Amino acid sequence: MSSSLSTVTNKPDAFWMPFTANRRFKDNPRLFTGAEGNYYLTSDGTRILDGMAGLWCVNAGHGHPRIQEAIKAQADGLDFVSSFNMGHPLAFQLAARITEILPAGLDHVFFTNSGSESVDTALKIALAYHRQRGEATRTKLVGRARGYHGMGFGGLSVSGISRHRRDFGPLMGGTMHLPHTLNIEQNAFSRGQPAWGAHLADELERLVQIHDASTIAAVIVEPVAGSTGVLPPPQGYLQRLREICTRHGILLIFDEVISGFGRMGASCAAEAFGVLPDMITTAKGLTNGAVPMGATIVSPQIYNAFMDGPDTGIELFHGYTYSAHPLACAAGLATLAVYEEEGLFQRAAEIAKHWEEAAHSLKGAPHVIDVRNYGLVAAVEFSPRPGAAGVRASECAELCYQQGVLVRPGADLIVLSPPLTIEKTEIDRIFDSIRKSLDKVA
Ligand SMILES: Cc1ncc(COP(=O)(O)O)c(C=O)c1O
Repeated sequence: MSSSLSTVTNKPDAFWMPFTANRRFKDNPRLFTGAEGNYYLTSDGTRILDGMAGLWCVNAGHGHPRIQEAIKAQADGLDFVSSFNMGHPLAFQLAARITEILPAGLDHVFFTNSGSESVDTALKIALAYHRQRGEATRTKLVGRARGYHGMGFGGLSVSGISRHRRDFGPLMGGTMHLPHTLNIEQNAFSRGQPAWGAHLADELERLVQIHDASTIAAVIVEPVAGSTGVLPPPQGYLQRLREICTRHGILLIFDEVISGFGRMGASCAAEAFGVLPDMITTAKGLTNGAVPMGATIVSPQIYNAFMDGPDTGIELFHGYTYSAHPLACAAGLATLAVYEEEGLFQRAAEIAKHWEEAAHSLKGAPHVIDVRNYGLVAAVEFSPRPGAAGVRASECAELCYQQGVLVRPGADLIVLSPPLTIEKTEIDRIFDSIRKSLDKVA
């Protein structure tokens, strides 16, 4: 199922691939040339079941005709207009539509082009908000161990994955981290939210005692940590974080780049868990991955802090050339219409039970030490092979691929997030392929 890049170009090294072992990939490339519904098509014509929804983004399935048509129609009309002191109708319509879908209290949308930009935007808004209100001493930002918040300097500074941070210098000063919530001894094979761990939110109180609330601007967490290996929040944890933030005037940001737009069986994790943050960051499922777009969505309290003062011109000196790009707005509007008309958030909530059963059927399979799930995400964690940490997962993923199923390896984990259109038989196929692969992995 692999192909050679020599049929594609004689300069394969011209493309420095992101987050990729370039030399290994280019020796043994895996090229996709088409996609439809829950499947990719490879260059040699094989259909591959997509257990990753692209990269946590193709929630409505690949190549949805309604989204494709909307993009084509927009390209035939207005290709580009800046959103700096000008605009186009779809930008306003998409912002309004997003706020209708999300819980009340997330009412104002700042468009970006990616999750990383959404995170950096949220962090900048947090700093500027406090300054705007006369609390300019609030400059410190709190992230969490194992958190992933994209690759910008801001997001990386609050992220908690050491390998991502190591090579890039001191990053932003004034950042701190809460402990992560994974505890396999206490919570192995929890279904959905683990029972143990709400008290870990109290670490924020400890940081407040050390640093004083008047120096802390915001806390950012993924409600369900995704990239690090799917860590659903312990029961009561997010509520506790919310209470502590409110008590100390600290803004709470949920990074919903993965958890937004249906993956939790609701519009977003804030709705799924019944906890309202002051801002959420989104991307990915907003346009079904079809055109890059992100959005930072903020509370009226934040928006009004900028809009209520004397009118001296630009309220926030921030934005991107492609903020609210017409093609992305067209894709976003069509995507949100598909989610609604096909009832995909509800569908995800309903099929999540089957997903959970199938995932947890791997308990007892060789090397499996934990299975974690929420909504339509799951992770299967393996004990590391002595002296070769992480290798079991990459071997398992390769064997799944040979069975026509795409899953994502990482450390000693397989991480899964299928399109919300996945069928029960396809769910079974994903977990069967992992089980069969594990039988062969030493
Ligand atoms: C929680 C979270 N935040 C931010 C990002 C970064 O998004 P992007 O790759 O679009 O910049 C990701 C990407 O997976 C993510 O999972």
